[in-house]
Amino acid sequence: MAGKLKIRVDQDKCQGHARCKSLAPELFDLDEFGNAHEVGDGSVPAGLEDKAWLAQSNCPEIAIEVTEE
Ligand code: F3S
Repeated sequence: MAGKLKIRVDQDKCQGHARCKSLAPELFDLDEFGNAHEVGDGSVPAGLEDKAWLAQSNCPEIAIEVTEE
């Protein structure tokens, strides 16, 4: 069985395109500069795995890391 997913936004790479937030609002928040941060500690709740992968593949800056715990 696959492990739990964890997301992380690389702050050096994120340019605030906000596609992650529109695709997976449960997983990402934007700060006052429009840069994305993972919600909480980045753990992806069950059922939202597809959204995590979708957000990762849609970030133009390749700023989102998805890892399996
Ligand atoms: Fe940043 Fe990529 Fe989201 S640039 S705001 S992590 S779509």
